[in-house]
Amino acid sequence: MDRNPRPKTHEETVSSFAYPENKKVFLKKPDVLVSKSFFEVATERASQRKFSALPESRLAELLWYSAKVISTHPQANGYILSHRPSPSAGARHPIDIIVSMPSKERKLEYYNPFDHSLNVITADQILVDNFVDHINECLEIQQGTIIWFLAHQARTTAKYDHPESLVWRDAGALIYCMQIASAALDLSSCAIGTLADPYIEKLFGEEMISAGGIIIGENFVL
Ligand SMILES: Cc1cc2nc3c(=O)[nH]c(=O)nc-3n(C[C@H](O)[C@H](O)[C@H](O)COP(=O)(O)O)c2cc1C
Repeated sequence: MDRNPRPKTHEETVSSFAYPENKKVFLKKPDVLVSKSFFEVATERASQRKFSALPESRLAELLWYSAKVISTHPQANGYILSHRPSPSAGARHPIDIIVSMPSKERKLEYYNPFDHSLNVITADQILVDNFVDHINECLEIQQGTIIWFLAHQARTTAKYDHPESLVWRDAGALIYCMQIASAALDLSSCAIGTLADPYIEKLFGEEMISAGGIIIGENFVL
């Protein structure tokens, strides 16, 4: 069976996806670059499972160094290729990031990597709670922030035949990028094995592929 991804002769167009958003908050650009060397960070990276609440300013730093668009390359067909901290096959970046910060009633927010903003998603609270409870059964979230990956496979399928593995490899790259940025910022992080099926499908529809996620928090303080 041939699973090798290959560029299509004619790239297809991709319909845009609009999340049902109702409030945008621009995140701060980080003030100072952290001064740890790459070699320290690479050695320190480890999965940690104690999560204190992450202030918005720290979440902003994490997203800036792991997911923010650095440069864009619009194509003639309207699709915007982008360069970001994490690599992506064909610069297609099919994976969107959803964030859920700790609060009595958790909400979901779409991270817009182009303008570095969080955008509250209008969603049925029971479905959101079911999603959060499910993750909590896999790994105790405590006061951690959930970062979830939503894969729009159509973005990669438009350019490649056999795109499936590319999307999963993009997800792996993103996990590592988030963990290495967390290590640099002295944050706790742990990837999650579940895909949270069927909750993501219930929240975002059948076309959406959950690509897993990662919990991030401040290092636990007694
Ligand atoms: C794709 C993936 C899924 C993971 N899922 C879980 C999980 O559900 N629960 C958990 O406690 N750790 C999970 N982990 C963390 C691994 O257990 C951890 O990376 C492994 O034990 C090695 O430890 P290290 O990351 O500190 O080197 C996952 C890691 C990856 C890459």
